[in-house]
Formats: sequence, structure tokens, C-alpha cells
Amino acid sequence: MKAVLIYEYGGLDVLKCEDIPRPEPGQGEVLIKVHAAGVNPSDAKIREGKAFAGMITDPFPYTLGWDVSGVVVETGGDGGGFKPGDAVYGLVNFPYGGGAYAEYVKAPACQLARKPALLDHIQSASLPLVSLTAWQALFEAAELKKGERILIHAAAGGVGHIAVQLARWKGAALISATGAPRDEDYLTFIGVDEFIDFRSQRFEEVIHDMDVVLDCVGGETQERSWQVLKKGGRLVTIMEEPLECRAMEYGVSSARVFVRPDAGALEEIRRCVDKGIIVPFVFSVFPLEMVEEAHELVEMGQARGKIVLNVEC
Ligand SMILES: NC(=O)c1ccc[n+]([C@@H]2O[C@H](COP(=O)([O-])OP(=O)(O)OC[C@H]3O[C@@H](n4cnc5c(N)ncnc54)[C@H](OP(=O)(O)O)[C@@H]3O)[C@@H](O)[C@H]2O)c1
Repeated sequence: MKAVLIYEYGGLDVLKCEDIPRPEPGQGEVLIKVHAAGVNPSDAKIREGKAFAGMITDPFPYTLGWDVSGVVVETGGDGGGFKPGDAVYGLVNFPYGGGAYAEYVKAPACQLARKPALLDHIQSASLPLVSLTAWQALFEAAELKKGERILIHAAAGGVGHIAVQLARWKGAALISATGAPRDEDYLTFIGVDEFIDFRSQRFEEVIHDMDVVLDCVGGETQERSWQVLKKGGRLVTIMEEPLECRAMEYGVSSARVFVRPDAGALEEIRRCVDKGIIVPFVFSVFPLEMVEEAHELVEMGQARGKIVLNVEC
């Protein structure tokens, strides 16, 4: 089968598309014929040896890619509830060597859910990592409740655009969002009430008394976010660990989320998608052989929504 391997960490040129043997599923695993694989900023960071690269114990060469949508073709043991022919999606083998940038990937059945019926494989592959991150940040870490006010940073990005739709579904009273002006109409369409152009406006001069801030940017954006929270508010970040002393100073709480596979949440997300509550935005699709271009684009950090590899074409 064709797969994208890395033999070392580095720039775009370490991505090698080669023929390797098909993996065989072990006990509790399934073999998936990959139709599409999502590309996330973390994929490029891992390629460079950053982010959670230090946690990956797979020896070189290994295959990148953690977001997958495809069809089960073989099962190890009882298949964990899946059988050949089932269309599935998931965040697989995370945070180890993922393997989804390939024609076939083996994955623990417990990390998979049925693919949303309303979406094709390209759209479905765009969802697992970003939707699980948004779900775990909003509903587990922040415990967002109906009627609350939330600020979502980088709302048009992969995580942000799903977080906006989940916050709307939960019944947030006010959704404020930072983003680029070209994304304002889109963000308003998916449920943002108050848009702030992060390049020309200082959000802390416009926004106040928020119950929750979801920080998808980090750095000075995180630092400037404390002051927009009301007492007892919650700052949840998917970037660097927030400073506990700043949380205490402002009388708020803080948490950092590191996404994890969760088939139960993916099943709930599938239901939301199939009811039309969440619609992923796919910005760009590349064939597997053009993985370098896909990484180049994701590294620029300027996509609306998601970038996906079409593995079937
Ligand atoms: N902890 C975890 O488990 C976890 C999980 C998922 C992602 N992450 C990390 O979270 C970050 C975001 O991920 P993503 O997939 O959502 O990224 P993304 O899709 O690349 O986000 C890009 C978006 O962010 C906007 N943006 C950039 N700087 C901004 C700023 N200062 N204020 C507001 N918006 C800004 C960009 O606007 P322009 O186009 O105008 O630049 C673009 O719309 C990445 O660093 C990723 O590695 C962490």
C-alpha cells in the first residue's frame, strides 16, 4: 500500500510517499481502508519533532496522520462491534504514530465511531481531532452551560469553527469570537453574535463579563484574556499551560486540554452532525501524494476550517 513515512524529524522534505506492507489488525483492532485523512497543525509540529513528538515511541520510519474516515475491511478478534463494510471515523492511535496518511490503517476499535451519514469521507475525516478537542474543552473542562457567555479565539480555525457550533447547540447566551475580517460573514452564519477582528481591534476593550474563554491561540492572546472573564469564570486553553497565579489574581479558574480519543463523544458528535447541528468546513483537499503542499498550508495557520488528504483518488 501507499503510505507517507518520515525517517527523521524535519522540514517538508522528510515526508516520503512510499509502498509498504499493509498492516495486520491485532486483537481488538480493525483494519480500515482509508478514504480520507485529516491534516492538523499538530501533524506538522510532530513532523518537525515538536508538540507531543517526544511521547511517540514508534521507531522511524513511521506514518503520520491521526484523523481518519474509511471503511473497515478486516477485524482482529470480534472487531469490537465493527464488521467489514462498516464506514467509520476516528482519532486513531493518538498520541503515538498515527498511521492514517496511508491506504490502510489499523486502529483500536474502541477509538472509532460510525461515520456521519450526512457527510462524505472527506468531510468526516476533517472532524475527529478538532471536534473532540472542542467537545472536551467546552463540555468537560469548561462545563459550558446554557445561558452563559463565551469568547472563542481563532473561531474560524479547525477547532474554533466546531466550538462555535457546539456552543450554539448548548444554548450559549452570547458567543463572541476573534478572527480575520474575511471570516466574519461565515462566523456570523454559524452562530457568532459578536465578531472581533484580531488584527485591528483589542478584544479586551470590547468584551467583558464572560463566563468562559476558549483559547486556541496562546501567548499574549491568552495573557490578555484573563481580564475579560467575570469572577468565577473559566479560561480553557488548548495551547500552553495557563499561569495559576494569574487565575488566582483574577478570581477565575483555568485548565489546559490535551485531546484524547473518545468513541463515546465521537458518537455524540456524529448525532449532532446528522441532525445538522454541526457542519464542518473543508478549506482544501489534496491527494496523498501532495502531502507536502497540505503541510505547507496547515503551517501557515490561515485556513478557514480544515485541510484533508483524499487517499482514495
Ligand atoms: N491541546 C490540544 O489537544 C490541541 C488540539 C487541537 C489543536 N491544538 C492547537 O491549537 C491551535 C489551533 O488549532 P486549529 O486546528 O484550530 O488551527 P488553525 O485551523 O490553523 O487556525 C487558524 C485560524 O486561526 C486564526 N488566528 C491566528 N492567529 C489568531 C489570533 N491571534 N487571534 C484570532 N485568530 C487567530 C487564523 O486567522 P488568519 O487566517 O487571519 O491568520 C485562522 O483563521 C494549533 O496550535 C494546534 O496545534 C491543540
